[in-house]
Amino acid sequence: MSEHYYKTKASVEEYIKLAKDVNGSQLIAKLNNYLLPGASLLEIGSGPGTDFQILRQDYSVVGSDYSTEFLKRLMQNNPKAEFLNLDAITLETDKKFDGIYSNKVLQHLTNEDLKRSILRQVDVLHDNGIICHSFWKGEGDEIFKGLLVNYQTNESLRLLFGNYFEILLIEAYNEFEDGDSLVLIGKKK
Ligand SMILES: C[S@@+](CC[C@H](N)C(=O)[O-])C[C@H]1O[C@@H](n2cnc3c(N)ncnc32)[C@H](O)[C@@H]1O
Repeated sequence: MSEHYYKTKASVEEYIKLAKDVNGSQLIAKLNNYLLPGASLLEIGSGPGTDFQILRQDYSVVGSDYSTEFLKRLMQNNPKAEFLNLDAITLETDKKFDGIYSNKVLQHLTNEDLKRSILRQVDVLHDNGIICHSFWKGEGDEIFKGLLVNYQTNESLRLLFGNYFEILLIEAYNEFEDGDSLVLIGKKK
């Protein structure tokens, strides 16, 4: 158990094996309904880069992560692509994007940190910018492998994002079990 689960070589290798059959293609298909091809897109928490490979087919995507272990691999595997070392909470970059995407990243933030992240996302987006984020669906939170898993519901997401984003879609989908996940798509107000 470690709060550095995504940051050590051994745990990153374990995560890559565990997640090898998972990808965000169903989320990205939803995003495609709202964000035009060729748009600039920031991915938060690119991890092994599975979704990054799909996103780059349609978008001018910049990947990011707060784990230097993942960033090192992302850069090795995608030498021509751009990656930033970003924490989802602070998103310390001057760059601006048409969209921001994350898949099962923001559940690692407390609601207070998620509020900070949302304010930064507003700054990092161009006018009418689009967000697409996935969460584990449920109530409360727990610690799994030393990491916070902060569950969200349709209502909690509306409360957190609704002041800053027009909610275009909140929909349950299946990752491992029936309706265990939620996708949120919003447009900057
Ligand atoms: C479930 S994985 C995402 C997998 C990714 N969607 C893919 O396609 O492979 C979660 C990722 O979020 C990153 N992460 C977790 N907390 C973060 C934070 N506060 N800021 C930035 N990245 C974070 C982890 O390092 C990990 O790479």
